Amino acid sequence: MSKKTQYEELVLQALAARGNAYAPYSSFRVGAALQTPDGQIFTGCNVENAAYSPSICAERVAVAKAVEGGARSFVAIAIATATSPPATPCGVCRQVLREFNSELPVICVNPSGDRRDLWLSDLLPHSFSKKDLDV
Ligand code: THU
Repeated sequence: MSKKTQYEELVLQALAARGNAYAPYSSFRVGAALQTPDGQIFTGCNVENAAYSPSICAERVAVAKAVEGGARSFVAIAIATATSPPATPCGVCRQVLREFNSELPVICVNPSGDRRDLWLSDLLPHSFSKKDLDV
């Protein structure tokens, strides 16, 4: 996996995005930063809703912004939570990230400086993908 010095800017942007989280119901604030091969970074934060189920995770906000911006390929995502150890992405977000890169590096961090460098393929083994639709 990557050196800990790699993706430092991505980590900083995920931590900064966490500051914009709208999480009045869970108080669980999440930030994400998604990097494209040409170095562009798209950020996201979780956005909750009084009806609960319309809430969306930080990772999927970042993916939606990136796709709308024309990106289709990603080299890494950093995800910031306040937990120790840093939390890993939920199952729905793993599946959404997998759509674009099954081997994505997933860098999970918290504001204390803890960092877990993981592979999406380890977080979502034997995954379902567009290949499975080729029947
Ligand atoms: N959340 C994320 O933003 N990303 C995840 O991968 C896990 C959970 C958000 C959803 C909700 O707003 C709050 O964290 C508590 O689940």
